[in-house]
Amino acid sequence: MDAKTGANIKSGKVVVGDKETTFPIYDGTIGPAVIDIGKFYAETGMFTYDPGYTSTGSCESKITYIDGDEGILLYRGYPIEQLAEHGDFLETCYLLLYGELPTAAQKADFDNRVTHHTMVHEQMSRFYQGFRRDAHPMAVMTGCVGALSAFYHDSTDISDPTQRMIASIRMIAKMPTIAAMAYKYSIGQPFIYPKNDLDYATNFLRMCFAVPCEEYKPNAVLARAMDRIFILHADHEQNASTSTVRLAGSSGANPFACIAAGCACLWGPAHGGANEAALNMLREIAKPERIPEYIRRAKDKNDSFRLMGFGHRVYKHYDPRAKIMQKTCHEVLSEIGLKDDPLLDVALELERIALHDDYFIEKKLYPNIDFYSGITLKAMGFPTTMFTVLFAVARTVGWISQWKEMIEDPHQKIGRPRQLYTGATQRDYLPISRRK
Ligand code: SDX
Repeated sequence: MDAKTGANIKSGKVVVGDKETTFPIYDGTIGPAVIDIGKFYAETGMFTYDPGYTSTGSCESKITYIDGDEGILLYRGYPIEQLAEHGDFLETCYLLLYGELPTAAQKADFDNRVTHHTMVHEQMSRFYQGFRRDAHPMAVMTGCVGALSAFYHDSTDISDPTQRMIASIRMIAKMPTIAAMAYKYSIGQPFIYPKNDLDYATNFLRMCFAVPCEEYKPNAVLARAMDRIFILHADHEQNASTSTVRLAGSSGANPFACIAAGCACLWGPAHGGANEAALNMLREIAKPERIPEYIRRAKDKNDSFRLMGFGHRVYKHYDPRAKIMQKTCHEVLSEIGLKDDPLLDVALELERIALHDDYFIEKKLYPNIDFYSGITLKAMGFPTTMFTVLFAVARTVGWISQWKEMIEDPHQKIGRPRQLYTGATQRDYLPISRRK
C-alpha cells in the first residue's frame, strides 16, 4: 500500500505564529507515523530544521524495519535472528531485492546469476597497480567501485529495469572480488580468481587467503561465520551511507557511482569505520584493569574519546546484531583453537562495566554491531584495515536494494535540502586597494 494514497489519511495541525496549518499524517504498517511537511515552506514561509535528521523520515520504504527501543531488526518483515540462523547471505540478498524469500528454483537461479558475475574486467586489475601498497583498502574500494561505471556501460541506463537488475547482480557479485583484490594487493600476493563451484562466503575467503602454491582448504565453520556476518550487515534502514546512496541516486547517477558514494560515507569511524576503530580501542586499552580510565574519558565532555562500538542513533537497547556477532565470535575463536582472545576478555569486561554505569544507562548506550565484529574478523585472519571493507561488501545489497526502491518510486525527485543561513548579509565588492 502506498502510504500517500491509503484510505487512512489523517491530518495534523501546526501553529506557526498566529497561523494554524494542516498537514497530512500517514501511518506505516508498523512504527511511527509521519507528518508530510512537503508544503511546509509554501504554507509558512519557514523551513523545518533537523541537522542530523534525528526526527526526519526521508522516504517511504518496504525493505527494513528497526524498533530501536525493543532492539528489533526485520528484513522485509523477517527477524534478523531467524535469517542469520536459518538462511544464507544470497537468500537474504534475494529477499532484500525482490521482497520475498525465494523458492528453491528462484534461489538456484539467483545463486547462478550472481556466481557468473563474480569476475571483474581484466583491466580492473591494472587499477590496483596505481595505488601504493600501503593504501587503506577502503580508499582502494572507493576508487575501484567508482571505476566500475567505466567498464559496464551496458548496465548504467537506470530507466531500464533489466539494466537496473543486471547492475544490482553485478554489484553483489563483484564486491567480494574487488575487496579480496584490495587485500591481496596490500600484502603483495597475487590476485586469486573466483571459483564458480564455491558458495559466496567460501569463494570470498578463498580469494582472500588462498595462494597459488598450495591447495586451499575451505573451513566450513569460518565460511558459515563469514556468511552470517554478511547477513547481519546487509541492510539497516536509512543509515548515513544508505541515505548517501539514495541522495546520489536521486540525481540519476549510475548505480556504480552511487555505491562508491556509499563506500565513502561508510568509511567514517562514526559509521562503518567503527569496527576498525573499536578493535584499535580494545588494543589500546589492552588490559581489563585499564578499562575504568577509558570509561571516565568516554564520560568526560571535554574529552573527544568515545567508546567505539557503543551507542546508536536508533537502538536505545541492545543491537540485536551485536548478540549474534558475540555468539559468532565464540564459535570462530573455538574453531581456530583460540580458547580465548585477551581482547575478547577486555571487550566482555568493558561491556559489563558500561552496562552497569549510570552514564551509559541514562544515555541508553549499548554495544552495537561493530563492538564484537572486529575481534571475530581478526580471529578469521583479516587485518583491521579490512574490517570496513567487509562491511561494504555486505552492505552493497542493502544500498542497491534501497537505490532500486527509490528509482522505482513514482514520486521520486532529486533530494535538495535547504538551510538556516547565518552568514553575511548582502554587501558590495571592495577593490583590493581599499581593503584593510
Ligand atoms: C553503525 O545508522 C545506522 O544504522 C548505522 C549502522 C548500520 O548498520 O548502518 O548501525 C552501523 O554505524 C553503528 C554505529 C557505529 N559507531 C560507533 O560505534 C561510534 C561510537 N558511537 C557514537 O559515535 C554514537 O553513538 C553514534 C554516532 C553511533 C550515534 O550518535 P548520535 O545518535 O548522534 O548520538 P549522540 O552523538 O547525540 O550521542 C548522544 C549522547 C551524547 O551525549 P550528550 O551530548 O547528550 O551529553 O550519548 C553520548 C554523546 O556524547 N554518546 C557516547 C557514545 N555515543 C553517544 N558517549 C560515549 N561513547 C559513545 N560511544
